Amino acid sequence: MEYQLTEPARTLKVSAVRELLKLTQTDAVISFAGGLPAEDFFPAEALKQAFERVFTTGNKALQYGLTEGYTPLREQIGHRLARRDIHVAPDEILLTTGSQQAIDLVAKVYLEPGSVILTENPTYLVALQAFRYYSVKIVPVLSDEQGMDPEDLAAKIEQYHPKLVYVIPTFANPTGWIWETSRRMNLIEECDRHNVLIVEDDPYGEIKFAPDEHYPSLMSLAQQSGKDCVVYTSTFSKTVVPALRIGWICGTRALVTAMVRAKQGADLHSSSLDQQALFQLLDQYDLDAHIGTIAAEYQRRMRLMITLLEQQNLEGAHWTEPKGGMFLWLELAQDLDAEVVLKQSLQEGVAFVPGTEFYVGPPQKNTLRLNFSHTGREKMTAGVERLGRAIHECVSSVR
Ligand SMILES: Cc1ncc(COP(=O)(O)O)c(C=O)c1O
Repeated sequence: MEYQLTEPARTLKVSAVRELLKLTQTDAVISFAGGLPAEDFFPAEALKQAFERVFTTGNKALQYGLTEGYTPLREQIGHRLARRDIHVAPDEILLTTGSQQAIDLVAKVYLEPGSVILTENPTYLVALQAFRYYSVKIVPVLSDEQGMDPEDLAAKIEQYHPKLVYVIPTFANPTGWIWETSRRMNLIEECDRHNVLIVEDDPYGEIKFAPDEHYPSLMSLAQQSGKDCVVYTSTFSKTVVPALRIGWICGTRALVTAMVRAKQGADLHSSSLDQQALFQLLDQYDLDAHIGTIAAEYQRRMRLMITLLEQQNLEGAHWTEPKGGMFLWLELAQDLDAEVVLKQSLQEGVAFVPGTEFYVGPPQKNTLRLNFSHTGREKMTAGVERLGRAIHECVSSVR
């Protein structure tokens, strides 16, 4: 038969870079490309015990569950959020299959073909991918290390009348940037004034290198000023394990109810077995201590990566030391193209994601994203040496 795929399914292109990166799944390539947490720190034993405890509760644990998700886990999430000044009742929380599904569900209930959404630039590639399936217009707002530029934000709201703004204000993917509080407040006020929904995506907020540093979430700031223009999504992918695929989204009851209905049509509910195991884990295991351990390790890995990059004497390259999260954003000399550097790097046996992937509109081609959380000391040393060699080779071919 002649398949009649929808327009997005027909026309959305497979990224050439993604195809290239598929080649990196071998041991010969050291990959700084994926957004992967460190496997050697996964709480595997505690998780195994948590699953065992679920099985001792009887066969009911294996039955269908609520679309909203396992209630005791939603209660636990509510308590954890309250410590960060986000106050939501269990029925204002929907458990999802990773925060990726949460992004898709917001898009499903809020966007129509032609709707405009604003994003930081660069921003999280797979969110862009999800939004594009709804035939929306994605408009980038000028962004820097402190967040969205307030003047450009105001101008874009005025010009495009967006329905939604999607942001990652704390340790962003791909840049690692953290929004200043004044920029956070500005976004909330602008969006509240113009009836624009803010989707705050916060998978990395808890992985901070200075434990006492406080980066207020947009959701908490909005709640403090009595505004309901923010929905907040986060995940246990980075703090426990990604394989559980447990994320959540919280917001007003009206929005959560709409997303619950949309989720019903998608998958009835996410794995309730996994949700019950996570509940058991959080009940018995010190997740905060675990997050402290991985954050300290990621900080060590990030520092090592920076030291190794410095040793490569990459003329014209610069970066800002991340204060949390999993990514280092590197700007190479102006005349280098990171996609060309990637091809050279793959020959050397190292991978990363070129910045072009993360831009809406014309990309800044000399940028790239390095993940520092996944690779241990020895491989990281070899990987950065290979990367340095590839960059030097590209420099000598363009000058
Ligand atoms: C910014 C951002 N949002 C959402 C996700 C999705 O995470 P998950 O679906 O594993 O919760 C990721 C994963 O890397 C991410 O970086």
